[in-house]
Amino acid sequence: MPSRQPLSEDADQLLHVFDLPQLYSKPSAAALLSALTLATSQPPSWDVSDAEDSRPGSGTSTPSSLHAQRRILRKKPVQRVDPEGLTAYLTRIIGSDLQWLPTEEQKEEVWETASLRLSERSGRTGMGAMSRSLYIPVSEDDEVEIVLHEPALTSDNLGFKTWVSSYLLAKRLHTLELPALSRKNNLAMRVLELGSGTGLVGMAAAAVFGASVTLTDLPDIQGNLKRNVDANSDVIMRSGGTAYSGVLDWRNPDVITLSEGLHELEKFPVILAADSLYSDEHPQLLVQTIDTWLAKDANARLAVELPLRDEYAAKLHQGFRETMSTAGLYILEQDKETGYDDWDSGDGDSLQQVQCWWSVWGWK
Ligand SMILES: C[S@@+](CC[C@H](N)C(=O)[O-])C[C@H]1O[C@@H](n2cnc3c(N)ncnc32)[C@H](O)[C@@H]1O
Repeated sequence: MPSRQPLSEDADQLLHVFDLPQLYSKPSAAALLSALTLATSQPPSWDVSDAEDSRPGSGTSTPSSLHAQRRILRKKPVQRVDPEGLTAYLTRIIGSDLQWLPTEEQKEEVWETASLRLSERSGRTGMGAMSRSLYIPVSEDDEVEIVLHEPALTSDNLGFKTWVSSYLLAKRLHTLELPALSRKNNLAMRVLELGSGTGLVGMAAAAVFGASVTLTDLPDIQGNLKRNVDANSDVIMRSGGTAYSGVLDWRNPDVITLSEGLHELEKFPVILAADSLYSDEHPQLLVQTIDTWLAKDANARLAVELPLRDEYAAKLHQGFRETMSTAGLYILEQDKETGYDDWDSGDGDSLQQVQCWWSVWGWK
């Protein structure tokens, strides 16, 4: 598992816990709170992975390197605390009676903040709700900012987190050959996203192509998905696109119910999906949903990006490929690339390297 390395002269300044105020010196509440702020586990912006991806041989194609360079230039150095010894430092604060602090309110604030830092350090699952801002290229030299709200996580709501495949696919969209989304074409530029989660890929598609995108997921995920679509409506509208959210359960693939209560009736010339295979039944369910909703047209395309985390994922990929072929679809373009997830990283600071496979499919 890679730790984040200094990238340039602007790299973060790493403080050791010995540089933080020590309890024997009876520091003020302000000094402790300021140290605890430095010890925050920031939600990864993945900007570092952008930069690492742009290294030769990393498997990511060139368009992202321009943006990666801009990311680095834009990045301001920040002070961070070396994780080594931090858990013990936080535990000491929580266990101290802080008797030199003058008020109960100050003690409570310090204890609460230290407890929060400690729970963050148990990984992304320990963090509360958060918002993250991601920059997605819409062309070689332009990008949009998409803001995603991620509710506090529960283990069975995987759609409350933004996964790295969706980030990689969103960044790749503007480079893909999707004839139905060419602005030269007079076709209605409609896109369906399956298993949208927080909605990054679908909203990026609306901004990149100026398309009308329907983002779908299970009923439990729908509320946050709609919230994100609403929050990004300005940036999507400025690109000439529109985005709607709705429920599409792959176990009942015939019905898409939009959040306004209407139903989608027409098939889509483009379908997108990221990180949608993680149980035995998923390859079959996903393909039957694609088969139901992908327009039977020579220009119709499916673009999908899937993480290859372990042997089980490889088995699911294989099942997906075979079921797609049986349904009459074949691969037009594909490659592998590396990204970074912040899921279950455990130490709260490192990102987990994940190999991902992207592919574009059409009807045989
Ligand atoms: C690992 S998450 C990926 C979310 C998002 N695409 C991303 O990459 O950030 C998998 C998504 O598939 C959705 N999903 C799982 N089973 C589903 C089903 N039967 N019908 C529709 N969506 C489903 C989950 O709710 C979740 O949002």
